[in-house]
Amino acid sequence: MNTDKILGLVALTGFLLYLFGTFPNAHGEVQVFARDLAWNDAYSRGLNLYNENCAVCHGDNGQGGVGEDALGLPLNLQSFLVIAPKSYIVNTIRYGRESRGMPAFADDFSESDINAVATFIKGWQIQPSKAIEDGKIKGNVKEGAKWYKVTCGNCHGPNGEGGPQETGGGHISASFSGFSAPALADIGFKKSSTDGFIKATLIYGRIGTPMTSYLKKSQGHVELEEQDINNIVAYIRSMPAIE
Ligand code: HEC
Ligand code: HEC
Repeated sequence: MNTDKILGLVALTGFLLYLFGTFPNAHGEVQVFARDLAWNDAYSRGLNLYNENCAVCHGDNGQGGVGEDALGLPLNLQSFLVIAPKSYIVNTIRYGRESRGMPAFADDFSESDINAVATFIKGWQIQPSKAIEDGKIKGNVKEGAKWYKVTCGNCHGPNGEGGPQETGGGHISASFSGFSAPALADIGFKKSSTDGFIKATLIYGRIGTPMTSYLKKSQGHVELEEQDINNIVAYIRSMPAIE
């Protein structure tokens, strides 16, 4: 074997080791590689599962509003993705929103499939995540009920059953307008969401949809103190579940 061939073999071996992530170096890049390969795999499986099972209602690019009643919410909104932990998306896929037409996928999808779809959806996020509060948020249920009735019930339904039809009027783009307000008492939503996720939705709103921010001094049309928001969260959590 001449020197060129030997050099060629050495280079090829090095390249293959590099490709499969076993080429050792001082910076722990071996693990990084393994992680990236696992992410790539989940992402591409998630993409296929999404196209086959979700795009019909949520749109090819997560733009929402597809299907007979155009109820599938947009999933690519930054203001949604930055406050939605992956576990929220995983559980939403697992439990669905059956009172609103979104099936539960727990029986058809393996845990790894569910995780793959959530990885794919999280791939739309380009802005950094915002911290959301952990645990139970303390609030006065009766006070919260009063606010809910006058500020939220018209869109989300008096018992949290969701809006009957489009609520209209997105702020930024016509493609975002006209989403029906989701069912906050749906059992799938109750099981997937946390107090902190609901509170963050009220604080930041969903930019580009009829769901504005409600925190005082934000862009909302109704300005609430943080304690009012806590009361509303406590009330929403107390609503009887709708199966
Ligand atoms: C003008 C109609 C309207 C009003 C008023 C309104 N919402 Fe919403 N809300 C929406 C829509 C539409 C969405 C879905 C936004 C999206 O596309 O992500 C939403 C989303 C939400 C979500 C997220 C649910 C999910 O499935 O992710 C919560 C929580 C919420 N609203 C709570 C409230 C509360 C509490 C109030 C009252 C303080 C309120 N909303 C007032 C229309 C409204
Ligand atoms: C038949 C239509 C339909 C299909 C199919 C469907 N969904 Fe949904 N999805 C909905 C509707 C409708 C809602 C809003 C529920 C409400 O209005 O209360 C929703 C809500 C969601 C939410 C919550 C969004 C938010 O803003 O909180 C996520 C996440 C989601 N779906 C993911 C998926 C994924 C992933 C798939 C495929 C595995 C899927 N959905 C399949 C109709 C559907």
